[in-house]
Amino acid sequence: MTAAKPRPVVLSGIQPSGRLTLGNYLGAIKNWVPLADTHDCYYMLVDLHAITVRQDPKVLRERCFEFIALYVACGLDPSRNVLFVQSHVPAHARLSWVLNCYTQMGELSRMTQFKDKSAKNVDNINAGLFDYPVLMAADILLYDATGVPVGDDQKQHLELTRDVAIRFNNAHGTKDRPVFIVPEPMIPPVGARIMGLQDPTAKMSKSGDAETDAIYLLDPPDTITRKLKRAVTDLGNEVRYDVKDKPGVSNLMSILAATTGQTLEQIVETYNGQGYGKLKGAAAEAVVECLRPVQARYAELRGDEPGLMRVLRDGAQRASQKADATLMRVHEALGFIPQ
Ligand code: TRP
Repeated sequence: MTAAKPRPVVLSGIQPSGRLTLGNYLGAIKNWVPLADTHDCYYMLVDLHAITVRQDPKVLRERCFEFIALYVACGLDPSRNVLFVQSHVPAHARLSWVLNCYTQMGELSRMTQFKDKSAKNVDNINAGLFDYPVLMAADILLYDATGVPVGDDQKQHLELTRDVAIRFNNAHGTKDRPVFIVPEPMIPPVGARIMGLQDPTAKMSKSGDAETDAIYLLDPPDTITRKLKRAVTDLGNEVRYDVKDKPGVSNLMSILAATTGQTLEQIVETYNGQGYGKLKGAAAEAVVECLRPVQARYAELRGDEPGLMRVLRDGAQRASQKADATLMRVHEALGFIPQ
């Protein structure tokens, strides 16, 4: 018998802060579901990353349960995907120390997210905020991830991960036995990205200030409808997909397409000449219907905290198995005495 060929690995992480939005679902989670057919999939809540800005402990814990229940409710089956919390797998913190010693201060000072976040948190520019991308590199490299689904805003961090992996490989690997797999970003195409309802030129954010800019996965139907009816549209009355000239209408079209499976052409055919009210009404109905089963499943799952704990414990165990093996490979490459 020959050993089964190892499957490519996909890994992604999301910070348990803010609230999961329709954008997280349509632009990310929903597209992760079928990957389990062909890949080993790891999805984690990055609680260690979250504390780079102050968190209320009670809220943080509640968010972690909420997010994990939502992952499952959105279709990520825990028996086909490894779902876990970053702090449950000690190898993340351990590898990030090692990688710190292979990352330059200059590289980290150039990260735009660090610049943005330190401008926003002037009274708490902590070392963790600066070091954030190194922990992210550890997250990715521990699992030999080949593909990393991330938003555009994380591209720079992924580039850094690749640079550090290559540097480490050059120092400690051989051509046919690299220590790390060098990962590739998997960035969703423009049309798959859901933008804000009030500012359709910026991505729908899970921690934005404007309550009406985002649809949250747990919003009740009347809230969803109200937000979509108030969505910013564009001048004129033409229904046409044009991200530049008609960002608001194009975003409503993307939402309708992603929730109903209709093509953009079909949407134009049905709604052009009908006014924007009709398009908004249809989008509202489609989003409500799309989220109805997710919300029902969520309520069941969230009500069973011991069940969620089992998912997390099992996930942490499976994640640790893979992560510990990589960490030992790294320690060996460094010349540390094996444990
Ligand atoms: N930095 C990512 C974000 O804010 C979250 C993240 C942490 C991540 N570790 C990761 C994403 C590993 C992908 C892979 O969105």
